[in-house]
This record gives sequence, structure tokens and C-alpha cells, in this order.
Amino acid sequence: MNTNRLQHYRSWRGRRSQAKLAVILMFVFSLISIWSFSDGLTASGGSDPGVLSPTDPALVLARPSEPMTPAVEKQSGEKAKKDTCVQCHREMGDELAAPVTAMQHDIHYQRGLSCADCHGGDPTEEDMDRAMDPRRGFVGRPTPQDIPRFCGKCHSNAEFMKKYNPRLRVDQEAEYYTSIHGKRLVQGDRKVATCISCHGYHGIRAVSDPQAPVYPTNVARTCGRCHANAGYMRSYSIPHDQLEKWQASVHAEALLKKNDLSAPTCNDCHGNHGAVPPGVTSVANVCGACHTRQAELFRKSPHKPAFDEMGLGECLVCHGNHEIHHPSDEMLGVGDQATCVACHSEGEPAYQAAQTMRQMIDQMVRELNQAEALVDRAARAGMEVSRAKFELNDAHDKLINARVVIHTFSVDELQKVVTPGIDTAKKAHRMGVEALNELQFRRKGLAASLVVIFLAVIGLYLKIRQIERPGA
Ligand code: HEC
Ligand code: HEC
Ligand code: HEC
Ligand code: HEC
Ligand code: HEC
Ligand code: HEC
Ligand code: HEC
Ligand code: HEC
Ligand code: HEC
Repeated sequence: MNTNRLQHYRSWRGRRSQAKLAVILMFVFSLISIWSFSDGLTASGGSDPGVLSPTDPALVLARPSEPMTPAVEKQSGEKAKKDTCVQCHREMGDELAAPVTAMQHDIHYQRGLSCADCHGGDPTEEDMDRAMDPRRGFVGRPTPQDIPRFCGKCHSNAEFMKKYNPRLRVDQEAEYYTSIHGKRLVQGDRKVATCISCHGYHGIRAVSDPQAPVYPTNVARTCGRCHANAGYMRSYSIPHDQLEKWQASVHAEALLKKNDLSAPTCNDCHGNHGAVPPGVTSVANVCGACHTRQAELFRKSPHKPAFDEMGLGECLVCHGNHEIHHPSDEMLGVGDQATCVACHSEGEPAYQAAQTMRQMIDQMVRELNQAEALVDRAARAGMEVSRAKFELNDAHDKLINARVVIHTFSVDELQKVVTPGIDTAKKAHRMGVEALNELQFRRKGLAASLVVIFLAVIGLYLKIRQIERPGA
């Protein structure tokens, strides 16, 4: 091999390795450019951690008042003293022994109380007649009229009850007499509910016990035993559909299906013992105890004095009492399903207001839906839209708020929350448009860079061919 050819060969190899380096660099460059322009095009759409998650439906109101736990836990085993009532009745078998068995689950028995604490008599006497002697205070079977006092002799006695549970109320008997049940009992009606209709008698459970007949999820059935029994209620003029209607309501759905113990069952609206729950003056106004914002707005609205004058409950005209459903926008305005047209007719300012308020809500819904559709499209295409989604959530909250503000029944008040809501929806819409524009730009950029890369690769290929041709 002569030196000339050797030199030529070396320079040829040098140029070839330079060309290889150029190809590698080109390849890396094209990867980077594809990656940078396709950012967002290939990413899996939808998962943007920057977006606030929608309010968790499970995070609903906690139960307002937790059932009390007894402060004094008496050991039932400690009561080893003589109890001839239990001994003899257990031996009697059948019906006479049934109370003894049932008492195993009874809160009174668990707190160390026994037969004679309720029935009186002498639990140290072996002899039946002396043990169950009326002269020793024995009461075998109290009449319905006697029941409130029978239970109230302890439950109305603050001194006595404090020893067991200082937090337990002692007004059940007094309150009971303010209810229709109590009033009618005094008048001699034996069919109304007394203490034992709702709590039972042998086997009374703590109210916090999920098996207690007064536990929130069981109350409706307990009241329904009488109130849903057409035959039993025949002699009264009131309907017997409350249970059925309540079971079809949004409240029953929340309580029984979503296990939301803050949703009302019969006693939350009608009171446990009194005519209405504490802090509420009339059952008709009970809704505001939980739906405080709607109630507050309603009370400042033109409807408050008007409804008072007509003797109408605050919320009942529009929402009902037992069969309350999820409200819809159709309830507002002047359409078939609108509640407003029951009282307002064409030509009245209120009719006009109803129509305008509905249009405002509709416009807000429309803007929100359009923005949502656009942002979704951008998200599906893999664009980063967390800020737009944040705005959407905000607009959604504003819509929910606007539906609450309806209860001012004022166009001006509604305007104050609808305008910012629409602005927010529009902002989200703009962000969606920008995201889609950006997407277009990137698509074009990617196409252009692919063309450049393609041409460069061809050029390189030709160059390498040229170098490899001997004698070039
Ligand atoms: C030696 C057995 C014996 C003893 C002790 C006894 N009982 Fe009875 N008890 C009976 C029998 C038998 C009957 C059913 C016959 C009757 O009503 O007289 C009865 C009936 C009852 C009744 C139903 C009354 C009614 O009008 O239907 C009650 C309540 C009762 N007992 C509570 C008690 C209490 C409380 C004690 C303890 C202070 C007690 N018993 C002690 C045997 C006993
Ligand atoms: C919390 C109070 C309370 C306690 C404790 C209690 N009873 Fe009663 N018992 C009643 C009431 C109230 C009635 C009346 C039920 C009715 O009117 O139907 C009753 C009725 C009865 C009856 C009549 C039959 C029946 O079952 O209706 C018998 C028997 C009886 N009790 C026995 C007992 C025995 C035995 C014990 C103790 C193991 C006991 N009771 C403990 C409140 C109590
Ligand atoms: C119409 C049904 C009904 C009647 C009648 C009734 N209760 Fe109640 N009671 C309830 C309900 C419901 C609760 C509450 C459960 C809860 O807090 O979730 C309750 C709760 C209680 C409690 C727990 C403390 C409290 O006040 O919340 C006691 C004690 C009580 N009742 C005793 C009585 C006595 C005594 C009578 C008779 C004077 C009576 N009840 C009559 C339904 C009734
Ligand atoms: C001898 C007194 C006495 C009599 C009579 C009595 N109770 Fe009680 N009761 C108590 C005591 C004590 C407790 C336990 C309170 C605690 O520790 O929480 C109690 C608890 C209860 C509870 C559960 C309260 C809770 O904390 O959840 C109910 C419900 C109840 N009684 C209903 C009745 C009814 C209905 C009657 C009548 C048939 C009755 N009681 C008769 C003393 C009595
Ligand atoms: C033992 C049967 C019985 C049970 C259990 C019962 N009630 Fe009643 N209730 C009646 C009777 C009977 C009346 C009287 C109806 C009348 O006077 O028109 C009545 C009246 C009423 C009224 C008044 C109706 C009116 O006239 O405006 C209300 C409210 C009511 N009950 C609610 C309840 C609730 C809530 C429960 C359960 C916590 C309940 N009741 C459990 C029998 C019962
Ligand atoms: C959300 C609150 C609420 C709940 C829950 C509720 N009620 Fe009512 N209930 C009312 C109101 C409000 C009225 C009407 C009072 C008025 O017009 O003054 C009423 C009326 C009644 C009446 C009188 C007769 C009638 O139908 O108008 C009865 C009886 C009654 N309710 C029983 C029940 C029973 C039983 C339950 C449970 C199955 C129940 N309620 C659940 C709020 C409620
Ligand atoms: C004890 C508290 C309480 C009382 C009293 C009460 N509610 Fe409710 N209400 C709730 C809860 C909890 C929900 C369920 C919230 C949910 O799941 O969206 C609810 C749901 C509703 C809804 C449906 C809201 C929606 O967005 O779908 C309406 C309407 C309603 N209640 C109206 C009433 C009216 C009218 C009354 C009086 C007759 C009343 N409520 C009494 C607690 C209460
Ligand atoms: C004059 C009729 C009317 C009265 C009175 C009324 N509402 Fe409403 N309410 C409506 C209408 C209409 C909607 C539906 C809003 C929508 O979805 O566009 C609504 C919606 C609701 C909602 C669900 C939406 C929300 O979050 O606000 C609740 C809860 C509610 N009302 C509770 C009440 C309570 C509590 C009262 C009594 C203080 C009451 N309403 C009085 C007409 C009324
Ligand atoms: C139960 C009958 C009733 C229903 C249902 C009702 N209103 Fe009214 N409303 C009245 C009465 C009565 C007045 C006071 C007298 C008046 O101005 O017409 C009033 C007043 C008004 C006013 C004030 C009018 C003014 O001149 O200042 C507005 C606004 C209004 N209502 C809107 C509505 C809307 C919106 C609905 C439906 C969501 C509705 N109302 C449902 C009875 C009703």
C-alpha cells in the first residue's frame, strides 16, 4: 500500500466518522424536536393533578348531635343482691319468663335496674302475693294513660337520673304532653303513641344502638306502624301516606341509601317528644334548622310577610313536606312545572321577575356547558388544562350558589351572583380556546420539523453515498 493511498484512506475514514457523528446528532435533534412539539399531543388526556377534585359527595354534614354515651357505666355483674322477681319468673317459663330473657338487651338492666325498679313490689319476698303486693307499690300492667308517669317517675327526676347519666335530658314526660300524642292521651285517646309505642318496654335499647326502634334509620318504620296503617288510622281525619311519601324523598335517599345521618326522618321534623324540635316554633318552619342559608334569604324576601299573612309554611308551598325531590331549574320561571305560576300570573311584576330569573340561570348553565365541552375537548387531546378546570369548578360553585340565591326572589340579588358566574365560565371558555389554538400551533410545528428532518436525512444519505464512492 503506497503512502499516497494510505493518506487518502485515512482522510476518507476521518470524513466517514464525521458523517456518522452528524447522523447521530441529527437523530438526537429530531428526537428532541418531535418530543417538544408533540408535548401534549401524545400525553394521556385528562389526568391533571393541578385540578381541584370535585367536592366529595361522601363529605356531607356530620350528624349535628352525637348520641350521648353514659358517663356512669355500672357493672351489671355487681348486682348480686336478691331478685326474687327474676328468679320466680324465670322458673315460670313461657310468657312470664319472657321479660327476663328480653331484659338481657335492656339498657335499664345493663345499668343495674331490674323488674321492681319499674313495676314496684318487693324483690326480696319469695312469696308471690307479698312480692307483687300493690300496697308495696306494685303495678302489674300500667294503662296507656299511666305510662308517661310510669316511665317519668325516673326520667323526670333530675336528681335520680344524674347518678346514671348527667347529660341525659329529663324533659321527655313534660315535652310529651305538648305533642298531639300527649294532648290526645289526656283526652282519653288510647290509640296515640306513648313512651312504649316508640321505645318498647322489656328490651329498651339506648337511643344510639342501631337496633333501637328510635335509631334514625328505624324511626320511620316505628312511626309507620300506626301512621301507615290505614285500618288503625281510619277513625282519624289525617292521611296515612307520610311513610310512603317520605320513603320516596331526597331525605330518605340521603339517610337510607347514602347513610347520611344528618338527613331528617320523622322525629327530626316533628320532635322526639314535643310537638316540634327545640328551637323551632312550628313544624312548618322546621326546614330552616338545617337549610340555614335558604331560610335566611327567604326571611328577607318579599314572600316572608306574604306567606305569613296567608298562613303558609316557609318552604312547603314550593317543596312539599314529606315527598321532597331534588329541585330542578324547571321549578323556576313561568313554564308548566314552575312553582311561581301557582300564584303569579302574566302582567304582574313578579311574573316578569320569575321569567327573568329563569333566563339568567339558563344563560349561566349554557355558558358553563359550552366552556365545559371545549375544555374537555382540549383535555382529551392531551393538553394541559388544569387552570381552565379550576375556573370551571369555580363557575360550578357559583351556579350552585345562584340556585340558593333564588330564594331572595329578587332579580337584582340574583344578578349579583350570576354575572360573576358567567364571567368565570367565559374565562374558562377562553382558556379552552387558547389550549386548542396551542394544539394547532404544535401540530403545524411538528409537521414542519418532520419535513426538515426528512430533508436533512436525505441530504446526509446522499452525502454518505458520495463519500463512500471510491475516488470521490
Ligand atoms: C313466686 C313467684 C313470683 C314472684 C316472686 C314474682 N312474681 Fe310476678 N308473677 C308471677 C305469676 C305466677 C304471675 C302471673 C299470675 C298473676 O298475674 O297473678 C306474675 C305476674 C306478674 C306481672 C304481670 C301482672 C299483670 O297484671 O299482667 C308482673 C308485671 C310481675 N309479675 C312482676 C313481678 C315483679 C316486679 C316481681 C318482684 C317484685 C315479681 N313479679 C315477683 C310469679 C311471681
Ligand atoms: C323499664 C321498665 C320495666 C322493667 C325494668 C320491667 N318491666 Fe315489665 N312491663 C313494663 C311495662 C311498661 C309493661 C306494660 C306493657 C303493656 O302495657 O303492654 C310491662 C309488662 C309486664 C308484664 C305483663 C306481660 C307483658 O309482657 O306485657 C310482665 C309479666 C312483666 N312486665 C314482668 C316483668 C319482669 C319479670 C321484669 C324483670 C325481669 C320486668 N317486667 C321489668 C315495664 C318494665
Ligand atoms: C313518638 C315516639 C316517642 C314517644 C311517644 C316517646 N319517645 Fe322517647 N324518644 C323518641 C325518639 C325518636 C328519641 C330520640 C332518638 C335520637 O336522639 O336519635 C327519643 C329519645 C328518648 C330518650 C333519650 C334522651 C332524649 O331525650 O333524647 C329517653 C330517655 C326517652 N326518649 C324517654 C321517653 C319517655 C320517658 C317517653 C314517655 C314520656 C318517651 N320517650 C316517649 C321517640 C319517642
Ligand atoms: C327506675 C327508673 C327508671 C324507670 C321507671 C324507667 N327508666 Fe328509662 N332509664 C333509667 C336509667 C337510669 C337509664 C340509663 C341512663 C343512662 O345511663 O344513659 C334509662 C335509660 C333509658 C333509655 C335510654 C336512654 C339513652 O341513654 O339512650 C330509654 C329510651 C328509656 N330509659 C326509656 C324508658 C321508658 C320508655 C320507660 C317506661 C316504660 C323507662 N325508661 C322507665 C331509669 C328508668
Ligand atoms: C301507637 C301508634 C302511633 C305511633 C307509634 C305514632 N303515632 Fe303519631 N299519632 C297517632 C295517633 C292515633 C294520632 C292522632 C291523630 C289525630 O288526632 O288526628 C297521632 C298524631 C300524630 C301527629 C299529629 C297529626 C295531626 O293531627 O296534625 C303527628 C305529627 C304524629 N302523630 C307524628 C308521629 C311521629 C313522628 C311518630 C314517630 C316518631 C309517631 N307519630 C308515632 C298514633 C301513633
Ligand atoms: C322534612 C320534615 C318532615 C319529615 C321528615 C316528616 N314530616 Fe311529617 N310533616 C312535616 C310538615 C312540615 C308537616 C305539615 C305541618 C303543617 O302543615 O303545619 C307534616 C305533617 C305531618 C302529619 C300531619 C298529617 C299530614 O300528613 O299532613 C303527620 C301525621 C306526619 N307529618 C307524620 C310524619 C311521619 C310519620 C314521618 C316519617 C315517616 C314524617 N311526618 C316525616 C314535616 C316532616
Ligand atoms: C335535620 C336536617 C334537615 C331538615 C330539618 C330538612 N332537611 Fe332538607 N336536606 C337535609 C339533608 C342532609 C339533605 C341531603 C343533602 C344531599 O344529599 O344533597 C337535604 C336535602 C334537601 C333537598 C334537596 C337538595 C338538593 O340539592 O337536591 C331539598 C329541596 C330539601 N332538603 C328541602 C327541605 C325542606 C323543604 C325541608 C322542610 C320541610 C327540609 N329540607 C328539612 C337536611 C334537612
Ligand atoms: C316560591 C318557591 C320557593 C320557596 C318558598 C322555597 N324554595 Fe327552595 N327552591 C325553589 C326553586 C325554584 C329551586 C330550584 C333552583 C334551581 O335548581 O334552579 C329551589 C331549590 C332549593 C334547594 C336546592 C338548591 C339549593 O341548593 O338551594 C333547596 C335545598 C331549597 N330550595 C330549600 C328551600 C328551603 C329550606 C326553603 C324555605 C326556607 C325554600 N327552599 C323555599 C323555590 C322555592
Ligand atoms: C303561594 C303563592 C306564591 C308562590 C308559589 C310564589 N309567590 Fe311570589 N309572591 C307571592 C305573594 C303573595 C307576593 C306579594 C304580593 C305581590 O307582590 O304580588 C309575592 C311577591 C313576589 C315578588 C315581589 C314582587 C314585587 O312586586 O315586589 C317576586 C319577585 C316574586 N314573588 C317572585 C316569585 C317567584 C320567582 C316565584 C317562583 C319561584 C314565586 N314568586 C312564587 C306569592 C307567591
